[in-house]
Amino acid sequence: MKKITAVAGANIALIKYWGMQNAERVLPANPSISMTLRHCVSHCTVAPQDDPTSDDQVEWLNDAGDLEPAAPMFRDGVLRHIERLRRHTHKSGALRVATTNNFPTGAGIASSASGFGALTVATCAALGWSANPAELSRFARLSGSGSAARSVLGGFVEWPSDPRDPESAARQFAPPDHWPLCDLVAVIDPAHKAVSSLEGHRRAPSSPYYTRRLEVLPDRTRRVRDALLAHDFTHFAQAVEEEAIDLHLIAMSARPPMFYWQPGTVAVLDAVRCLRADGLNACATIDAGPNVHVLCIAAHAGQVQQALTEVPGVRTIIADKVGDGPRFADKHLF
Ligand code: PMV
Repeated sequence: MKKITAVAGANIALIKYWGMQNAERVLPANPSISMTLRHCVSHCTVAPQDDPTSDDQVEWLNDAGDLEPAAPMFRDGVLRHIERLRRHTHKSGALRVATTNNFPTGAGIASSASGFGALTVATCAALGWSANPAELSRFARLSGSGSAARSVLGGFVEWPSDPRDPESAARQFAPPDHWPLCDLVAVIDPAHKAVSSLEGHRRAPSSPYYTRRLEVLPDRTRRVRDALLAHDFTHFAQAVEEEAIDLHLIAMSARPPMFYWQPGTVAVLDAVRCLRADGLNACATIDAGPNVHVLCIAAHAGQVQQALTEVPGVRTIIADKVGDGPRFADKHLF
């Protein structure tokens, strides 16, 4: 076993994973499509402990640059995940894990996807297992953050939902250079969301509109995929925005309801519609949080970013773009 640091990008869902067909195996109720990000990343260092009989240790690198014990819920998820990987590889010995994100955590920018993606890649390598992309994706999914299954791949990724496949893995369907889209994340509130995605998945079927969502999704998923493959921004924007609103419709009509939007969220949605009416290729999507991902073509990114800075409620903008997927780093967190 050796010390390994992995870096994995967050991803923005274009067709959202929302609801599970099997919670224990983290199998999604519907297929999803995402774009892996380049700059919003998690770093994770995994190393054997000097004393292999000691307890596993999970730390978090805080904003001040100091390692501190990880929050209990996150720590427990990490411990379960490294134990699962150790069992699979028939390895023993205590591990030390440290992790950090370079963007707001738990605010709907997929920090759990990149975090558990980086943890999976680093732990497999530290345990001496050169897992292939499908194996990495399956194990990342089992971490509990299903969207982590997509963050271990670069470019444009689809995660199928096949009830006959208990080992569901995501796969890349277009490489990063297929369409160099930008993602300008309009940060409305960097705080941790009040209701977790896990709770959102559980509550989704309680919405009276959820069954209808599952009926219309195959067609919408095909429209997003086809538009993306054809570089057809007009149809891409229509389908992506429909899907973003649909996720929040389900969330807001669940029992009990979940409201992720804030006034700034609505202001950005409105601003993006105006930008499009002015001829700019921009569209908006929102995961489980108030922050809005504004997707646009590279040639329009400067103008779109400038316009977003003037929208009331926007605190900062994180300029991101399509990423290549996980990589290893020489600089370790400890
Ligand atoms: O992977 P989870 O359990 O954190 O759920 C992700 C949920 C959404 O971000 C709202 C949608 C998605 O597909 O990423």
